[in-house]
Amino acid sequence: MAAVGDARTRRVAVREGAATERDVNAVTRADIIRHGETPAPIDPALVDPALVDATLADPMLPDPKLADPALADPAFRADVLAGLSGRPRAIPARWFYDRRGSELFEDITRLPEYYLTRTERSILSAHAADIASLTGPGRAVVEFGSGSSAKTPLVLSAVAPSAYVPIDISGQFLRDSVAELERQFPNLPIHPIEGDFMHRLALPSAIESKPRLGFFPGSTIGNMNAPAAVDLLRAMWETLGAGSKLLIGIDRIKPASVLIPAYDDAQGVTAEFNLNLLHRINRELGGTIPVSAFRHVARWNDTEARIEMHLEATRDVSFSVDGRSFAISKGKTIHTENSYKYGPRDARLLLRSAGWTPIGEWTDREGLFGLILAEARAVPAAP
Ligand code: TRP
Repeated sequence: MAAVGDARTRRVAVREGAATERDVNAVTRADIIRHGETPAPIDPALVDPALVDATLADPMLPDPKLADPALADPAFRADVLAGLSGRPRAIPARWFYDRRGSELFEDITRLPEYYLTRTERSILSAHAADIASLTGPGRAVVEFGSGSSAKTPLVLSAVAPSAYVPIDISGQFLRDSVAELERQFPNLPIHPIEGDFMHRLALPSAIESKPRLGFFPGSTIGNMNAPAAVDLLRAMWETLGAGSKLLIGIDRIKPASVLIPAYDDAQGVTAEFNLNLLHRINRELGGTIPVSAFRHVARWNDTEARIEMHLEATRDVSFSVDGRSFAISKGKTIHTENSYKYGPRDARLLLRSAGWTPIGEWTDREGLFGLILAEARAVPAAP
């Protein structure tokens, strides 16, 4: 996922159907296993390669293929039209991650205010030996939404794995990261899967007999509400099987004075990331949204224990998308993202609810972020 805290992890579901990348993904390496509902690629024969190259070279350039809304991703169109028509207005966060959005997300992970990425990395390196002794050597590491994960080498060098299985919705990200990891770990068998890890997946037969360690960093689980998070953790349980382990990063509840700046940085990168969604709608769905009439808002919702990202109209606006008219009055918002935060006990309960028994937990000195190791045990009968 592609997804999630990790650059491009987001991506949980986040990078699904990044339309500017679909045609590129059509040419996939033969050994990438495809699963799930990868959107049907545009016939490469219909695409002028010069246009594709220009788009890849300059992420700011609108993709000329997509200027015609008839060629846009139907799922994107459906989500945007429904999201602008519903109340409250909301558009799923997965649509953030076109090429530009993925780059901006990468920038977010390097911001001084965005403590998640560097904190999780530092926990991983500080406790690598401890984590390794609890997982044991020889496991096949299965990473959910591997993207361009910079944390993967930390885990792979710590746990002495027998194989590595990165799962990502984006074939392009998979190819790039696999090529890099093959250089770093020349003796490690790598079996990439291109697919949507939100559903149970079949693992490669090459790791059939090997014990597994799932890896799900970046607090991507926090981008789902509790029922969806439990569904996903259960799907992971099913994919990995009994006896497997899962190393998962979950961001903690902390004062809003720390949380808000992480999602509303001084340089305005997160604002640009959020507003890019409106640019993308204009580019790909023939929208006429006056982007400058919207501002990025990050709120802490204490009842729900989540950061919310919104796009707020700073004046009354009307516009059209795909030929349909919309009006938003001043002060109203489009809800674009949630990032749920968990206390240590909440996080463990979440895992248990999906059949995962926590067996180890690490944090940083300030307790900003939690890294939990859990085991797939059959749930014992009451009491
Ligand atoms: N899961 C991470 C988080 O909630 C990464 C993330 C997903 C994110 N979507 C985002 C970060 C939007 C900033 C903005 O922080």
